[in-house]
Amino acid sequence: MPELKRSPAWQYLQETKFVRGKVEASSRPQIAPAEPFKQYPTAEKVLLPRRWDGEKGSLWKVLQQRRSIRRYSGSPVSITDLALLLWASQGVTAQAGPYYLRTAPSAGALYPIETYVVAERVEGVMQGILHFDVRGFQLERLASGAFAGRVTAGALGQGFMARASLVFIWSAVLRRTMSKYGHRGLRYIFMDAGHICQNLVLAAEALGFAACPVAAFYDDELNEILDLDGTEETVIYMAAVGTRDVKAQD
Ligand SMILES: Cc1cc2nc3c(=O)[nH]c(=O)nc-3n(C[C@H](O)[C@H](O)[C@H](O)COP(=O)(O)O)c2cc1C
Repeated sequence: MPELKRSPAWQYLQETKFVRGKVEASSRPQIAPAEPFKQYPTAEKVLLPRRWDGEKGSLWKVLQQRRSIRRYSGSPVSITDLALLLWASQGVTAQAGPYYLRTAPSAGALYPIETYVVAERVEGVMQGILHFDVRGFQLERLASGAFAGRVTAGALGQGFMARASLVFIWSAVLRRTMSKYGHRGLRYIFMDAGHICQNLVLAAEALGFAACPVAAFYDDELNEILDLDGTEETVIYMAAVGTRDVKAQD
């Protein structure tokens, strides 16, 4: 498969391999670290409920039933459901020294992923873009208004996203992980995002919602929507969550 071997992706995998006897000697690039948390101190805060019924369905049933579903009825979700989805994906479950350990694992407990929510249809929450403040368990409003059109266009025009109640957008603060793990850290960043998204879609299934991961998007357009520079922090993954359309299968 010479064409595979010529691809930058394959070369990246080769160059970031751990090889027995060479791990200690391999030099790490000097990449300065970044702040472990992002905050928008002047943003309006949307407090999230912290009390809920945690018994929402058996893990085994949820694993069996989960599917990527792209048809939504267009009904709103409650703020409690939004809180549950955020907690399932990135909720703090323990503290160990400076580390805020979460529902999803993270290489080196460095948590490079930031969560943004495009709230399209949430009862009691004005439409807009919000950033999840992990430590405060609250949302920080970055913008108000309907963003479904721009987000859908940015997601290669995948029309189902326009009927979602919520779109989760995950960015990576590359330095958080790469300052410790170098180039190989990029692998870990994408793994972290996968864990987070899996937690989200399982929680969505447990709550009776429909959800679909989305990785096909115009990177620069999504970064622009969130006002990210695309270098220090860049969008790497998304997921749409909506209320189920009982007439539809997928
Ligand atoms: C990394 C990743 C990226 C994906 N990107 C998209 C996407 O952009 N659009 C979409 O409709 N589905 C997307 N999906 C959903 C897959 O199509 C779906 O998981 C697959 O068809 C298997 O179906 P299931 O999730 O119902 O088991 C993505 C899934 C993953 C894991």
